[in-house]
Amino acid sequence: MNYKIAIVPGDGIGPEVIGQTIRVLDKVGEKFGHKFEYTEVLAGGCAIDASGTCLPQETIDTCRASDAVLLGAVGGWKWDTLPGSERPEMALLGLRKELGLFANLRPALLFEDLAEACPLKAEIVEGGLDIVVVRELTGGIYFGEKGTKDTDMGLAAYDVEQYAEEEVRRIAEVAFDMAMKRNKKVTSVDKANVLESSRLWRRVVAEVGEKYPEVELNNLYIDNAAMQMVRNPKQFDVIVTSNIFGDILSDEASMITGSIGMLPSASLATGNFGMYEPVHGSAPDIAGKDMANPMATILSSAMMLRYTFGLSDEADAVESAVKKVLADGYRTSDIAKEGENAIGTVKTGDLIVEAI
Ligand code: NAI
Ligand code: MG
Repeated sequence: MNYKIAIVPGDGIGPEVIGQTIRVLDKVGEKFGHKFEYTEVLAGGCAIDASGTCLPQETIDTCRASDAVLLGAVGGWKWDTLPGSERPEMALLGLRKELGLFANLRPALLFEDLAEACPLKAEIVEGGLDIVVVRELTGGIYFGEKGTKDTDMGLAAYDVEQYAEEEVRRIAEVAFDMAMKRNKKVTSVDKANVLESSRLWRRVVAEVGEKYPEVELNNLYIDNAAMQMVRNPKQFDVIVTSNIFGDILSDEASMITGSIGMLPSASLATGNFGMYEPVHGSAPDIAGKDMANPMATILSSAMMLRYTFGLSDEADAVESAVKKVLADGYRTSDIAKEGENAIGTVKTGDLIVEAI
């Protein structure tokens, strides 16, 4: 089949890691008989330099006209003196809003061969880790009514946590659909013992769960979930939770895997449309030096194959190739041990392409 992909390389190491990812996708296309059509567009600092705005309309239009978006990273020292509202990073918020990306997927993948990078005890993560946190991205307390008022305790400030049934339903469906493609287990995280919004959350998630009889659903309070994440993370497959709880839990989950250069992410809209990007930023300290680890972006493209295009064999091929390169002992500098010889960005791409 033919697939249209909008490519947003961005700044710093963005173009370097995207370059290797395109080579990997081309190899997948060749092997499995697909054609990936790329349209490259500007966002971030490079867009500011070229057109005066970090998110040109043409970029939004191209993304909308594509099946999926693959993004490198945006930002860098050159634009650090601009006021907040004009900075390259605003392009990300703009894309989320313009493309209706309400579901944020952050896998925490710990490869067996990188277990030494994990801060947890070896026996806790034996055999690796594979969790996905599904975070609601456009609702909840970050977007609720906020303000200040006078009280007899002095000035008070408030932020309202509000979720509508439909908002919970659509994120729960993303989580259950994902579980069906994985190990058929969903953990919904809330604080239903004290929060009314969490009680609605829990009810709607359970209703959605009834449509997925094969998937096991568990509920956990956020405080317990945060504890379980370091005590026994292997109990989790898919975690679904609100914007604020997901923000915190996804950072916690990703930290137990070690390197930032390894972590992919996806942000989904309705109808399988998605934007895929590494969790890391533009790493200006190593940009242009052939030092960046392209695996986070390459693994993001595997998520795109799996979740937007429904190509799970192809996604497996990419993930297996990354695992093979690690198992063969190759490491970029961010994951190399002291004294070990590190390989570069392009060489990493070569090896993954070869492994596919
Ligand atoms: P960063 O993730 O770019 O870098 C943090 C550290 O990790 C640096 O030492 C960097 O060299 C290293 N690193 C990151 N990715 C790596 C990779 N693939 N391979 C090897 N090492 C890697 O975060 P930082 O330094 O806070 O931000 C740099 C710029 O990126 C800023 O302008 C920031 O606003 C922007 N940023 C953009 C994001 C995005 O586009 N989604 C996300 C986070 C930051
Ligand atoms: Mg965060």
